[in-house]
Order: sequence, then structure tokens, then C-alpha cells
Amino acid sequence: MFDLEKGMVLLNSGYGMPILGIGCFRLSQSQAEDSVYWALRDGYRLIDTARIYGNEEGVGRGIQRAIDEGICTREEIFVTTKMWTDDFGDGDEAIDASLSRLNLEYIDLMILHHSQPSNDVEVYQAMERAVEAGKLKSVGLSNYYEPEDFDRLVDAATIMPALLQNETHPYHQSTVMKEHIAQYGTVMESWFPLGGRGNTQVLFDDETISSIATEHGKTSAQVILRWHTQMGFVVIPGSKNVNHIKENLDTLDFQLTDTEMAEIAGLDKNIRYYHRTDEQLAQFAGWRPDFEKK
Ligand SMILES: NC(=O)c1ccc[n+]([C@@H]2O[C@H](COP(=O)([O-])OP(=O)(O)OC[C@H]3O[C@@H](n4cnc5c(N)ncnc54)[C@H](OP(=O)(O)O)[C@@H]3O)[C@@H](O)[C@H]2O)c1
Repeated sequence: MFDLEKGMVLLNSGYGMPILGIGCFRLSQSQAEDSVYWALRDGYRLIDTARIYGNEEGVGRGIQRAIDEGICTREEIFVTTKMWTDDFGDGDEAIDASLSRLNLEYIDLMILHHSQPSNDVEVYQAMERAVEAGKLKSVGLSNYYEPEDFDRLVDAATIMPALLQNETHPYHQSTVMKEHIAQYGTVMESWFPLGGRGNTQVLFDDETISSIATEHGKTSAQVILRWHTQMGFVVIPGSKNVNHIKENLDTLDFQLTDTEMAEIAGLDKNIRYYHRTDEQLAQFAGWRPDFEKK
């Protein structure tokens, strides 16, 4: 299913998905346009955005630029967007609005951005109808951290979620959910793969990661991204830096050894940066509050 050599995973929906893409969280419209364009030019074929990032139009423009220049065709790329919880009341309208902002005829993967037990089942069913209508190719979930919560949705679903996108990195390895969703053929995708904007240096400076990087002549970022794909996670590092975008793609050509994978497995602290408390993060050497770094 997960083909490291081809850089593709076959989803339970029957569609192929690239295992490494560009993430667009916290990018402005114009930054998203440039990052998407640079990424496609360099060879990326997977793009991740969301309604709540406020940059779907920019993403659409970046895609169109690449298509106009003959860099890729629409069929060769895989576009993911997410429906924000405020929109769950009218899923049909939210899907049409994302299609219009992205300026696309169909979306390869639409994800419910967060668990919301009050109405996520109904809106998941709206996404299933949109698959029938040809507006969406695959459907997925994000931010479901308990097996019971995931199953609540799966029990009501006709189309199994193709993918679960959760915060995942060497300090939060998502082991329980990864194993749980495998029974449905659902693939795990990592957000905050490098720890997220403002936190990356902690992972980059981690002694285990940086010494493995030295060993391979790679950067810490590259080692972490390779760890994700070797773990069987689809990974979407966010960047607005043309050099980082290039560097991050250059991670499919080397292999971490079993020993190195085991060493990184040993780093799991089950810590999520998104809901971090200062007390949790202060345990880690190298961490300082954001305001001190300025
Ligand atoms: N489902 C959800 O709730 C959710 C939540 C958050 C994010 N996401 C998705 O996941 C994607 C990834 O998460 P993220 O962007 O928040 O965090 P991330 O990928 O963990 O980290 C992004 C940070 O890493 C830096 N970076 C990227 N490549 C680098 C490299 N090679 N060397 C040094 N620094 C590098 C970026 O800076 P530069 O811009 O300078 O490169 C940025 O500061 C998002 O973009 C979004 O698409 C989903």
C-alpha cells in the first residue's frame, strides 16, 4: 500500500496519493500561491490547505500558474482541503465554496478538520454524497485522537475515511491511532511534522535526531521527514521558504536503518505542541517561550 520507492500510497478509496506534500497553514494568500507554485515546480504533487487557513484562493492560483506553465496537469496533482467546524451545519455549501475558492472541478481529498460530535456524522454524510456527485474523490478526518471517537464516525459511514490527519512527530508518534485505523485501511497523515512553526528547533536540536542527520549528511528536518514516511505516514511540511521546500522533497532518496528508527521511536513523549502548556514544554532542553526568542 505504502510505496516508498514510488513515493505513493494507495488509499482505500482506490486513489493513489503522494506521500510527501506541501502544507499551507499560516501562509498568506500570496505566500500560499508562491509556495504551491515552487513546490509543484520542484516536483511535489500533493498540496494541503484548509478553509480556515484563509488561503484556498492563493493555493488555487499557485496550481493554475503551474498548470499554465505546463509543469503539471490537474490530474497529476492531489489537492486536500478541510472543512472547518463552523461550516458543519451546511456541508453541501461548504464543499461548493471550497471548490469555488480553489477554482477546481473536484477536490482529491476533503477532510473534516476537527471532531465535533454534535454534527460531524451528518456532515460526513454530505461529503459521501459529494463523492457520488464527483465533487470529491476521497474523504478523511482530522483531529480524532481516541479510537472510540473515530469509531463513532466509522460506524455511521458508508465510505471509510481514506486518511486521518493528526498532530504527529517524533515527540508525539500517534502509535495508538495508527494501529487502530489500520483495520479500516485508513492511512495516517502527520501535521506539525517538524513540531510546527516556532517549535521546530527543539526537534532539530534533539541529540538523537541531529547525530543521525550528521551520519547521513542530511539536515535534521530531512531526517524527521524521512522518519515520517518510513513510519508509513503521509507528511506535509509547511514552508514559505523556497530552499526549505526543495530540501524537504530531497528525503525520498535515503534510508534510516532499523537501529535509527528504533532510536527515534524511543523519543516519543506523547507531547502535543498545539495544546502545549509551558510546564510540559519546559521539560525539554532547548525550549524557550516564543516571546523570549524575539
Ligand atoms: N489538521 C490540522 O489541524 C492541522 C494543523 C496544523 C497544520 N496542519 C497541516 O500540516 C502542515 C504542516 O504543519 P505546519 O506547517 O504547521 O508545521 P511544520 O511543518 O511542522 O513546521 C513548519 C515550520 O517548519 C519550518 N521548516 C520547514 N521546512 C524546513 C526546513 N527544511 N528547515 C528548517 N525549517 C523548516 C517552516 O519555516 P519556513 O516557512 O521558513 O520554511 C515552519 O516554521 C500545515 O502546513 C497544514 O497544511 C493541519
